[in-house]
Amino acid sequence: MLQGRRILLVIAGGIAAYKSLELVRRLRERGATVRCILTRAAQEFVTPLSVSTLSRERVFTDLFSLTDEHEIGHIRLARDCDLVVVAPATADLVTKAALGIADDLASTVLLATDRPLLLAPAMNHVMWSAASTQTNIATLVARGATLAGPNAGPLAEGETGIGRMAEPHEILAAIEALLGGPGPLAGLHALVTSGPTHEPIDPVRYIANRSSGKQGHAIAAALAAAGARTTLVSGPTRLADTQGVAVLHVETAAQMLAACEAALPADIAVCAAAVADWRVATAATQKLKKTGDAPAPVLQLAPNPDILATLARHARHRPRLVVGFAAETEDLIAHARAKLAKKGCDWILANDVSPGTGIFGGDANTVHVVDAAGVEPWPPLSKDEVARRLAARIATALGRS
Ligand code: C5P
Repeated sequence: MLQGRRILLVIAGGIAAYKSLELVRRLRERGATVRCILTRAAQEFVTPLSVSTLSRERVFTDLFSLTDEHEIGHIRLARDCDLVVVAPATADLVTKAALGIADDLASTVLLATDRPLLLAPAMNHVMWSAASTQTNIATLVARGATLAGPNAGPLAEGETGIGRMAEPHEILAAIEALLGGPGPLAGLHALVTSGPTHEPIDPVRYIANRSSGKQGHAIAAALAAAGARTTLVSGPTRLADTQGVAVLHVETAAQMLAACEAALPADIAVCAAAVADWRVATAATQKLKKTGDAPAPVLQLAPNPDILATLARHARHRPRLVVGFAAETEDLIAHARAKLAKKGCDWILANDVSPGTGIFGGDANTVHVVDAAGVEPWPPLSKDEVARRLAARIATALGRS
């Protein structure tokens, strides 16, 4: 399975491009997310519409498209994936990749990526055996690229020889060999809380906060991609359920705690939810009414249970690693250190959520990891990248990397 794995598929301009449509379909069937880049020449063979219909993602074609760059810059596109696959890898694109030429989106992404690279070459047999192609392929393989094919057989132009693109099932097998391993957290159960909680005032009104759940959901996806059986206890969010993750939907802090307790035992707990500190002590059972000039109701609040502290101090099922967040607007590290001690967790990911940072609801995050050993500042990263780094750090801490 490729559940939760993210593939960036570069489709270059060759007749074999039609086989890449089948590859996209099969990758999705196995649970992978597939983002595609089409070169200009590729668009002569397959259309962005057919590729986006099959991938259910938008297709990227242009380095200088302001819309594309606004939605996802080419550097992020190059790195927001677990594997870059080039199929078909034409002689032209192989040459550009080997020489570091970056004159369109596909070649720029190949230069900018730091992810593993799988090439499925497809070209005429004379082009394939040409000294320049062989040198360029050898260069890319020496730098760590993996090859799927090319195969021998009849070629599109009526000749026979080595140059046919590998079949979709062969490319898939190569992708699974590169990515489909059990993952460092296989056999472990991870519990993640995410999103806000809603605390009812009466049947129609509630107290809430601005948490989007993006960071918590990304963490659940990253832990699942690293092989952990993952339970996500989510407050109300606008996010779709993450594939490959068991999602328990809750509204209140009390329900969130009950769902977490029910999900135990867990080896790893990451509490990323923005749990309301207080609930209305006694929520009205009927809608509160405005009655004439009567004074506005005063809400009596009661403290909510602290889910992180409950898990971190759990008498019977304390997870081996408990991670919390500290969203602060001042004295970030001092507050995070205090929270580490007060809650009894192992790590705190501290983030500055001052107005203007755009962290609440945004796609980026800047965190400091605070643990007993000290403070580890992480650079500004996407929430997905923070999640992946956290999963990797967890694997290392549990001796799994
Ligand atoms: O105390 P504070 O809300 O700042 O702590 C934040 C951390 O504690 C987060 O990891 C959050 O998920 C967790 N928390 C919790 N239950 C609460 C309050 C906070 O799990 N009631």
